[in-house]
Order: sequence, then C-alpha cells, then structure tokens
Amino acid sequence: MSLPDPALVVLVGASGSGKSTWAASRYRVAEVVSSDALRAVVGSGEHDLDASTDAFALLEQVVAARLGRRLTTVIDTLGTDATRRRAWRDAARAVGLPTVAVALDTPAGVCRSRNAARDRPVPARVLTSQLASVAATVDLLEAEGWQVVRVAPDHELIEPGGGVDAAAATPGQRSTSPVESTSLRGVVLQLSRFPAEGDLLAWLREMAAAAEEAGLAGLALMDHLIQIPQVGRAWDPIPEPWVTLGALAASTTRLQLGTLVTPVTFRAPGVTAKAAATLSALTGGRAFVGVGAGWWEREHAAYGLGFPSARARLDALEVGIETMKALWAPGTKPYAGQRVSLPETTSYPRPVGEIPVIVGGGGDRTLRIAARLGDGCNVPSDEVGLAKMVRYLALVGQAGRDPRSVHATVLDLPLVGRDRDDVWARVERHRGRAAAATFAARHHAGTATEHATRLAGLADLGVTTAFVAPVGLDGPDDVRALAPLATAFG
Ligand code: UTP
Ligand code: MG
Repeated sequence: MSLPDPALVVLVGASGSGKSTWAASRYRVAEVVSSDALRAVVGSGEHDLDASTDAFALLEQVVAARLGRRLTTVIDTLGTDATRRRAWRDAARAVGLPTVAVALDTPAGVCRSRNAARDRPVPARVLTSQLASVAATVDLLEAEGWQVVRVAPDHELIEPGGGVDAAAATPGQRSTSPVESTSLRGVVLQLSRFPAEGDLLAWLREMAAAAEEAGLAGLALMDHLIQIPQVGRAWDPIPEPWVTLGALAASTTRLQLGTLVTPVTFRAPGVTAKAAATLSALTGGRAFVGVGAGWWEREHAAYGLGFPSARARLDALEVGIETMKALWAPGTKPYAGQRVSLPETTSYPRPVGEIPVIVGGGGDRTLRIAARLGDGCNVPSDEVGLAKMVRYLALVGQAGRDPRSVHATVLDLPLVGRDRDDVWARVERHRGRAAAATFAARHHAGTATEHATRLAGLADLGVTTAFVAPVGLDGPDDVRALAPLATAFG
C-alpha cells in the first residue's frame, strides 16, 4: 500500500488495535507523535492519565512544528477527538499536505485479548466505549475530508519486500521487440560522479557488474570536460566518456552503453559517429548516443572550444544528427540531405543494428529536432519535463512518425535509501542548505520499492526509459539496491 508522503497521518483505533505497531513498521520514530509516549515523557509512564493534559499540549506543539516544516507527521492517539482531528486537518491543509486517516480494522475480540495480555490493561468497560467511539469516528472520516485507509490486523507487520530480484528481472530486459532500438527500454543508470579511490577501471567494472546484476537496461555517462557544479566540484574526476565506454564494453555483456548527453560542440559529428559505431561493433549492438546542443560555456572556454549562439548550436545539433545517421547508413554512397552533404559515407566498422540517438534538452526547437531527426527525447522527470514529453510525442506524430517507435526518456534524480531511516539519513547528508522536506520532495526520497512504483507510473504515461542518477551514488552496493527498479517498465 502506498500512502502519500509527506503527509499528515492520523491513526484511529482502540487500545490494542495495533496503531503503534503499524506506525513503527512504516515510519521513523521521530515521525510518530504518540500521546502515550508523551505521557511517559512528562508523567510517570505511558498510562499516567494524570499527565494527559501536559502530554497533549506537547503533542499539539510537536504536530504544529512538524507540519509547519511539511514533514510527515503520524499522530498516534485513539483518534476519536473530533475537535483535535479537525484542527490537525486544517493545519495540514494550510501547508498543502495530504491528510490521511488510518483506521485499524481490528476486531473487538482481538483488541480485548491483546489488552488483557498487557501489563496494564485498560479496564474492560473503557475499551468497550473506545470501540464504540472508534466505530462512530470511522463513519465520519470521509465527510471530514480525510483520505481513509483501512488496515487489517497483522498483515501490515510485514515490511515491503525488496521487489523482484535481479535474476528474475533479467529476461524482461533481454526480451526482443519488433522495434530494434527498444532495447533501451527500462532503467539506465547514469553515472555522473566517479568517486573511485585510486583504481578507476576497477571501480567502473564493479559498478557495471552491479548494474547487470540488478537487471538494469544500460549505463550512460555524462559528457562534460569539467565536473558540473550540479553534481560535484571542478576538481572531481570526470573521465572522457567514449574512452570510458570502450572500457565498459569490455566489462559488460548485456548493458546498453552510451552518453547522456554528448554536446555537438565538443567533437565533429563524424568523429562521434565513428566512436559510436566502434562502440556498437565492440558490444554487439549495445551502443546509443545521447546528444545535445551544449550549454556550459566554461568547459568550452577551458578546452579551447568555440561556444556559438544558442541558435547556431541548435543548427549544429541538426547537422550532427544528420551526419551521424548518414555515416551509419548502409553503403558508402554520397549523401545529400537537408543541411548536410557528404561526398561519400565510408565508415567501417558498421554499427551492429541501429544506434538510437536520444536528444536531450527541452526547448521547443530541440523537441522539434528530436521529433524529426532523432530516435528519442530526454527530459527531466518532473512535471514540466513530462509536459514536454507529451509535446514531443505529439510532434513525432505530426512529423508522420509512429510515437510508439521512439524512446520517451526521462532523467530522474532519486534519493534511494534502504529503509525509511536510511532515506532520511541520506536526506540529511545531501540536502545542503535546502530544507529537508523540500529536498526530499525534489528527489522523491524513498526506498527502491517506492521508486519502482513511481517509475511504473511514468511508464503508464508513455515513458519508455528512465535514466536514473541516484543522489550520492557511491559504489556498487548503491547500484545493486536499484534492483527493484529494473522491472518498473515491464
Ligand atoms: P499496539 O501497541 O500497536 O496497539 O498493539 P495500539 O493500538 O497502539 O494500542 P494503544 O492504543 O497504544 O493501547 C497492541 C499489541 O498487539 C500486538 C502488538 O505486538 C502489541 O502487543 N500486535 C499489533 C500484533 O500482534 N499484530 C499486529 O498486527 C499489531
Ligand atoms: Mg499505542
């Protein structure tokens, strides 16, 4: 079951119905605000009813502070106090958090026997009246505007499993499809940082082996001459991608390999065509080329490269794609196209099968270039990016091409943790100056299983491929942890 997150979650259930157990199995300790626990803080123990007033005052303060920061807040009380419940709902709404009421559907008899087994049972008649007011409350929840979730006893104690294992995911990644280039379908790991200590080749091999083990569809490298500030510091290593992909060709057997993205400003497109054709030959047809107009002036200046106007760079993008396609086409004929004329197209070795060209960038002209000349388009996985994807697919149709024959790809920057504690520890480690809730939302902070569900939702929208660059990806363990994502695209 997937609940909105962050959210206000209010538990509703009698003593012994399993509220605290359910909350503990899904949330971090600090996310659960419990009247019993606060009684123990300000009173003699969880059942010190004399401490109730103080405990609830504290509870309200904690709830207000957490909601004010848009942090997930799980309120563990009986949940039957309508006045408090409405105030919490309004506070959450004021900051735009979803409001969820979790009703524990535990039979009265189970609550009674659990209660009886406790050190300090609630008196039987108190439990009876609790059960009645819980039942009455549950009837009100929908009308109060809560998203109501019912939890049956016991089965929620089981933690969500790790998803499909890599071995099981592999056949799906291998499946042949009528469109040659759909082998890129699935999750492609994008490596953007290279924290290899010492032996870069050994590190790359381990990362690639882990990606194959996890059942991922491919591995993409950024093409930058200096590490970009969005990812790291200028003195962090960023190896030349085509050389590096050659090394990866030798260390892998299944992964699709390519760049995301190669700026057309870096190399003459014929030379990129040559590199990609060579990679295709070395890998038995596992090469793809991400290509873009280039955007970072600094790296061009530092390496003595020209950085023309945006318009000229987009012209170069058109020229680049046309040149590569011409050189990869069968034969050695002269080529005379729209923007490109070549006296011959002699290029050996030939690529094995087609090399998909994925165009990165979301400007309208870029989308049109992608629709007309490319085999796919890559946009961010956020709402704005997905709107561009929809536009791209429409443009593909307008260009007289079948939208099902192209790659609709997104760049996704998830924060992936082993469990909720690890997720939030990573949020703290990586958030920099951003507020925790903002950072967590931006990177959809969650477990791999949660990300798999989210990516499956993108697949439903028509996305075929997610280039995934996890926040703070350090080593092969982080890659293996992505195994549940491997089947998100079916
Ligand atoms: P809880 O202590 O979670 O109940 O479970 P609660 O609703 O929060 O109760 P109050 O309101 O604080 O009193 C009660 C007992 O039931 C067991 C727990 O281990 C605990 O001993 N339990 C709970 C299960 O055996 N299975 C479950 O699915 C949930
Ligand atoms: Mg409890």
